[in-house]
Amino acid sequence: MKKIGIITSGGDSPGMNACIRAVVRTAVHQNIEVLGFYKGYEGIIDNNSVKLDTTSVSGIIQRGGTILKTARSQRFMTEEGINKAANNLKQNGIEGMVIIGGDGSFKGAIELSKRINIPIVGCAGTIDNDLIGTDFTIGYDTAINTVVEAVDKIRDTAESHDRIFVIEVMGRDAGLIALRSAIACGAEALLVPEMKNDINTLMTKIKNWRSSKSSKIVIVAEGEEFGGAYKVGDLIRKTCPEFDVRVTVLGHIQRGGNPTCMERVNASLVGYNAVLALMNGHKNEMIGIVNKKITYTPFEKAVKHIEKLDDGLLNMIEILSS
Ligand code: F6P
Repeated sequence: MKKIGIITSGGDSPGMNACIRAVVRTAVHQNIEVLGFYKGYEGIIDNNSVKLDTTSVSGIIQRGGTILKTARSQRFMTEEGINKAANNLKQNGIEGMVIIGGDGSFKGAIELSKRINIPIVGCAGTIDNDLIGTDFTIGYDTAINTVVEAVDKIRDTAESHDRIFVIEVMGRDAGLIALRSAIACGAEALLVPEMKNDINTLMTKIKNWRSSKSSKIVIVAEGEEFGGAYKVGDLIRKTCPEFDVRVTVLGHIQRGGNPTCMERVNASLVGYNAVLALMNGHKNEMIGIVNKKITYTPFEKAVKHIEKLDDGLLNMIEILSS
């Protein structure tokens, strides 16, 4: 293998730069040239690329975002776009690809692999942590730490005013950011897309919250069924007018910032192993870390969302928040 390509695609996530650095430096060490395409699949379609070497990835391990930029390419969802991308890869002499992204990016990789016979491997880059085949996606650890820091601050003011705060975290299809941060922040309630939430049970629970507990935090994943934190806040106000309710949507703050130590280490590990995987004949697989071991999961399996949250953890939240 003489030349590989790399993209970051979909929503950005802290740690993507650490992964790019690992891919580039490992490849250079193996005498493999690396071409980085800007803005994910868009850059492949437009042939918008940059040759990456050891120095191009200096000083980026600690930076959030992605130096290659990213996009959710609409054009790549068309036959014309995918064919153009496949042709451009052929013309650039690309013999292998590393895709850093989430489920949409890997679905794209499956389509691309039908048009060009080169090995493609993926590094799971999304704050949502919703891919099958890895314990932690790149960005998740930093995002949950950002959420925890923000909720701790909100807890201070909630406590001073005896208020309920409904806090919305990211996760259109996945409640894993919500679940973990709810545990870490001692949230009193949690609403996630994976569970059928019974609003009456929630309201009864709110009404019964013991009065000695002055602040109450309800963590809501953006994709839950009632339509987000503002709607949930209104429902609580209507049903429990005795409470003073405020709503905070954390939004894209969760996608930025310096990656945590764990993020940098995991991102480096998957980036390093992605290049080795390409050299060892892996194709159409996502490189993950499960129980501290490097794993290879076929894209088709990885993109299937985690559909069920850990019942044991959900149960624990109930008990610990009482
Ligand atoms: O997939 C990552 C994610 O941050 C989701 O949690 C969120 O729903 C979505 O991206 C937001 O995407 P965008 O930045 O394109 O609005």
